[in-house]
Amino acid sequence: MPTFSEMTYRSLSKKFLLPSAITLFVIFSCNLATAQTDQLLIANQKKGKGLVISVTKGNCIACHSVPTESDIVSLANIGPPFVNLKARFPNRADLEKKIWDPTFTNPNTIMPPFGKHKILTMIEIHQIIDYLYSL
Ligand code: HEC
Repeated sequence: MPTFSEMTYRSLSKKFLLPSAITLFVIFSCNLATAQTDQLLIANQKKGKGLVISVTKGNCIACHSVPTESDIVSLANIGPPFVNLKARFPNRADLEKKIWDPTFTNPNTIMPPFGKHKILTMIEIHQIIDYLYSL
């Protein structure tokens, strides 16, 4: 015969402890996954920024300014400034196409076709997009 306190403990553990433990575990795992995604995004944004200012890769600031970044000095105004890109390109695929081959929206553009001419890889273009969306 189990004692009263043993019975209470068993029913408690079935009703509360196990479900709570499972809930806590799920919350913990989700937080961990989100933290990892955040870190990946931050790393990509950093790489994207490097490419945007790199003379041998993107060199976007030869033509575009980045007014919200005090450490990027560019007075270039050949292309529009990098602001509100999420509003201007709500669809990520459109921004990808624009950087891959700008004739996508403007057949007479002087902007280089970074993807088509293999100046940037698709991965690099997406790192740049992560950065542009953070501005
Ligand atoms: C040689 C100059 C030049 C370089 C270098 C250049 N761009 Fe451009 N870019 C332009 C011009 C001019 C436009 C405007 C005409 C057009 O839409 O094609 C433009 C337009 C854009 C647009 C569309 C902006 C809008 O608001 O419609 C984006 C996005 C863009 N450029 C991204 C980039 C990125 C990212 C890089 C670097 C990887 C880059 N550009 C490098 C000249 C340049």
